Amino acid sequence: MLVVHLAMRGRTDNPTGRMEMSFSPEAPPTYVAPTRVDADTWVIHQVQQALGAPLTVYLNSMIIAGSQPAIIDTGSPNNRTQWLEDVFGIVEPGDVRWVFLSHDDSDHTGNLAEVMEACPNAVLVCSWAIVERFSNAFRFPLERCRWLNDGESLQIGDRTILAVRPPVYDSPATRGFLDQRTGVYWAVDAFATPCPGGPVPTVADLDPTFWAEGMAMFINHALSPWIGLVDRGRYGAQLDRVSALGVSSIATAHSPLITSSSVDDAFALLRRLPDMQVPPAPDQSTLDLILAAASAA
Ligand SMILES: [Fe+2]
Ligand SMILES: [Fe+2]
Repeated sequence: MLVVHLAMRGRTDNPTGRMEMSFSPEAPPTYVAPTRVDADTWVIHQVQQALGAPLTVYLNSMIIAGSQPAIIDTGSPNNRTQWLEDVFGIVEPGDVRWVFLSHDDSDHTGNLAEVMEACPNAVLVCSWAIVERFSNAFRFPLERCRWLNDGESLQIGDRTILAVRPPVYDSPATRGFLDQRTGVYWAVDAFATPCPGGPVPTVADLDPTFWAEGMAMFINHALSPWIGLVDRGRYGAQLDRVSALGVSSIATAHSPLITSSSVDDAFALLRRLPDMQVPPAPDQSTLDLILAAASAA
């Protein structure tokens, strides 16, 4: 079914009978409502079907609805209508004081312009690296920017956030943060794993073997292909640094929620990653199979 979906998406018939192709992305077919992860902290969900496999992947962002509301990453362009509805169903645009941008990927910056226009009182928390790398796609209002580097803190109303780069990432601009009031850690792309079939609420709902193998596959082939090259001691020190922060739960873009009972297991999985064997990345033979199945359907 996924294969047929892949083959047909983007095609439209016109009155001449010729098939036209559109490269516009489609809105996701599956919806998961925002999840409350702490008293005033929400995860905004998007769900993406995996190509040619019965798997789904979250594309999450986050809201802190504290005394100075903050939007954490801005979702994807293909989910714009639903994402804006979810976000502004929780916070009023005029009340938003901070927009935190973790890095420059399209699933984190997809509605950045819309958010900055809708939220005139918001400061954009970003960095030199993000501005340098993403200025080809977005005109940064520098007078509204606050640059925050790894290890630095920022007071956002009733709480302080501490910028902490996660141990694995796919952009040198990446910065996560710990909310020092709630202990929620925004881990950006780290801890990424698919879900078998439809999305599940927490990683505790995943089979433990699937979780480990899914994380290894995702991080090796879609996030940090250098993971097998790292110095184990220095990588371990990074893990120690993050895990020692007193993280109460982990919200991350591409995983079900990692609640308090799963935090230690999640860090243990990250620690195993450099030495885990993973199957090769899907290649042209995989694409041939997908296209053959689509044409036979
Ligand atoms: Fe990314
Ligand atoms: Fe991402």
